[in-house]
Amino acid sequence: MRNETLRLILLLLLCSHLHSVLSWKKEEFRTCHQTPFCKRARSRAPGSSSLIATDVTISHGDLTAKLTPKHDSQSETKPLLLTLSVYQRGILRLKIDEDPSLSPPKKRFEVPDVIVSEFPSTKLWLPKISSVENGLSSSVYLSDGHSAVLRHDPFELFIRDDSSGDRVISLNSHDLFDFEQLKHKSEDDNWEEQFRSHTDRRPYGPQSISFDVSFYGADFVYGIPERAASLALKPTRGPNVDESEPYRLFNLDVFEYIHDSPFGLYGSIPFMVSHGKARGSSGFFWLNAAEMQIDVLAPGWDAESGIALPSHRIDTFWMSEAGVVDAFFFIGPNPKDVLRQYTAVTGTPAMPQLFSIAYHQCRWNYRDEEDVEHVDSKFDELDIPYDVLWLDIEHTDGKRYFTWDRALFPHPEEMQRKLASKGRHMVTIVDPHIKRDENFHLHKEASQKGYYVKDASGNDFDGWCWPGSSSYPDTLNPEIRSWWADKFSYQSYEGSTPSLYIWNDMNEPSVFNGPEVTMPRDVTHYGGVEHRELHNAYGYYFHMATANGLLKRGEGNDRPFVLSRALFAGSQRYGAVWTGDNTADWDHLRVSIPMVLTLGLTGMSFSGADIGGFFGNPEPELLVRWYQLGAYYPFFRAHAHHDTKRREPWLFGERNTELIKDAIHVRYALLPYFYTLFREANTTGVPVVRPLWMEFPSDEATFSNDETFMVGSSILVQGIYTERAKHASVYLPGKQSWYDLRTGAVYKGGVTHKLEVTEESIPAFQRAGTIIARKDRFRRSSTQMANDPYTLVVALNSSQAAEGELYIDDGSSFNFLQGGYIHRRFIFSNGKLTSIDLAPASSSKGRYPSDAFIERIILLGHAPSSKNALIEPSNQKVDIELGPLWVLRARAPAVTTIRRPNVRVAEDWTITVI
Ligand code: NOJ
Repeated sequence: MRNETLRLILLLLLCSHLHSVLSWKKEEFRTCHQTPFCKRARSRAPGSSSLIATDVTISHGDLTAKLTPKHDSQSETKPLLLTLSVYQRGILRLKIDEDPSLSPPKKRFEVPDVIVSEFPSTKLWLPKISSVENGLSSSVYLSDGHSAVLRHDPFELFIRDDSSGDRVISLNSHDLFDFEQLKHKSEDDNWEEQFRSHTDRRPYGPQSISFDVSFYGADFVYGIPERAASLALKPTRGPNVDESEPYRLFNLDVFEYIHDSPFGLYGSIPFMVSHGKARGSSGFFWLNAAEMQIDVLAPGWDAESGIALPSHRIDTFWMSEAGVVDAFFFIGPNPKDVLRQYTAVTGTPAMPQLFSIAYHQCRWNYRDEEDVEHVDSKFDELDIPYDVLWLDIEHTDGKRYFTWDRALFPHPEEMQRKLASKGRHMVTIVDPHIKRDENFHLHKEASQKGYYVKDASGNDFDGWCWPGSSSYPDTLNPEIRSWWADKFSYQSYEGSTPSLYIWNDMNEPSVFNGPEVTMPRDVTHYGGVEHRELHNAYGYYFHMATANGLLKRGEGNDRPFVLSRALFAGSQRYGAVWTGDNTADWDHLRVSIPMVLTLGLTGMSFSGADIGGFFGNPEPELLVRWYQLGAYYPFFRAHAHHDTKRREPWLFGERNTELIKDAIHVRYALLPYFYTLFREANTTGVPVVRPLWMEFPSDEATFSNDETFMVGSSILVQGIYTERAKHASVYLPGKQSWYDLRTGAVYKGGVTHKLEVTEESIPAFQRAGTIIARKDRFRRSSTQMANDPYTLVVALNSSQAAEGELYIDDGSSFNFLQGGYIHRRFIFSNGKLTSIDLAPASSSKGRYPSDAFIERIILLGHAPSSKNALIEPSNQKVDIELGPLWVLRARAPAVTTIRRPNVRVAEDWTITVI
């Protein structure tokens, strides 16, 4: 009997596992083996390229050269043009393309509007080339301490640290470089490719590019989102690696994706970051929007090549179906430097509106106005703050975006106004597929103007999506982007009000009847560009056009909020992204952290995963844990599939409601800290949530840890990823201590602690030596908290010192660009807390006017002997006493508190403990 039960359990387990594997329809997607360019590239052996660099010279401040084949057998190949340019901050750019003077059949696609307009002006004009190794190589200045070296035969490019002579990054060190040049089709050529029932006509034939890139002194490589996989990228090829797929970059709508796979999801950022104890970090970005496949090669993969290179390195192999080489090398050496360098090229994340970093309530779908009102009022009844209510596709009239199902939503303006009266906002969905319905004005206009992407025969491309037969605006074209942007004006988008913002979904683009659920590669865009050349950036241009629409609507002084599912390098300038259709299970909860960290590492700081999991019904415990973790995602939104049970925070019994409410409260309390971090991301590119190694770059124990993460540089969070967990092992890096965020208890740094875990919260700690600003009064929405007083939590280190920053502005306009903000640094040392103005004096006229004050200062780790504090310049004395660490939590421990100092946050002051 027992055996039978066991067998039954095993069978059930197997079935449930099979379900999760089988529901991902693997066969719908191409493997590398089924992708001719990938298969061809992967079969090449090191040393097979042998291009040589000739005619090396300086032209217009760049180094230029020709790449010509060394062997006679390749003599039909025309020389390629190579250009090396150097930019401020240690950025090297390499371009390789066909020579236009040799009349190639077509101009290859270079991705426009990703590089920010300021970047070209940071170019350093190269004065000269130095000859190295008796003329075998040429070198140019890259930055103080680094040179770029071009070896001629075979051609290789590497960056050298001049003081040590060590290499930093190199390209083509294994001589794998291959560039399939366009040619005129002869009668014998059959370029068509078949995948399942789809034929790709490939009118221009093979045009792929591949090469190897090596990172020296690196222990791990990271980046190249988007996929559900570990933060540190595992090798895909080489000794002791099971035959595996390369990491794929190809934006796809993947139904029920699995949680541990190199398979590419909705977005692609061809940017890799390396990190190691020996050298620190470096980065490599290939600006190319065609399908890309990337191998991370295990040490020893090249054992037979005979090529001698420093052994402490990681080799990678990059393959793309089309485009040109437009590659950027970033020298780091600190991880944060790499982010600064990368975002100097692709832009820093947009400064979001304050409301958009608070809590969002979403589901597919909130049925009608009554449902909206009910959900909204429940939050009030239970005193749970939230900022945004979302409407998915069902709110429209037959999936015609910009319209309302008037039976369900007869009064959209009034509905939004009601929310707005509580400081809340609404988001509606606007997807790129436009219903082909002659009575739909948008379709009529787009087809008349010729604004749709064209199929291989030159007709409007017609694909299947939510509305049925649909066409897709060609937002590569700036004119069409501008037309699209106008659709968001209040006149054009009937029923929209100033508190309405936008969600772009399905913009990979998703085409239900297309190859791999997307657009065929041979459809064409503006300028004759083939879809294969820009596929990964289609969603980017759509996101850009939508964000520009909101910008226009707000007359340039209302920051857009647009959530996008597809993404590309540069998407950070246009809004937030989320990790798509995850599943309500513990593995997806766990993988959300490496996914969000990877996005942040590649510039896309504003991201999050669907809280609760999109598919399936989370057990209450999982849902609670998800809220507790999600409260630290940069983008904090609950969302669910329409087939799932309703799961608003109050549906799982009082205790769970309390726990969820507490998690949401933590986020609202920390909003000033988060907002300050968003501003840091906006000015430096350094993401809001960070891998531990970004803050502790020489601590090897952190390099592959992707279960624990930093929110800014002051808070460490450990998710709880298993059911009924009673304990968690948490590694707390660094020499300083850490204070439990909830209890104030102190823990030693540099040690793994086995901690007890309760249902009340997940482990989170404030780093000793930091100061965090909180707001502890809870209202209905973040907007209503605007003038609330602050609490400063001063976590003292062993020298009884701490520092922190606070950034404040109006939370919505662009006045901050004219100095309309407050930026303070708080420093505690020698018993004195000082508030220092960080905003430049020149902006003092336009400062954001705030009367907000500091109502409480908590001193963690302070010897409890002092009774008073003296405030200057007002020369007032206030009491120091024991007060609760968290005012709203019943059992919060008592900690040393300076009560009611009531100093203004905008002013200079000191508070001395006496
Ligand atoms: C797919 C999206 O990923 C999901 O979040 C959304 O609810 C559905 N499309 C319906 O719009």
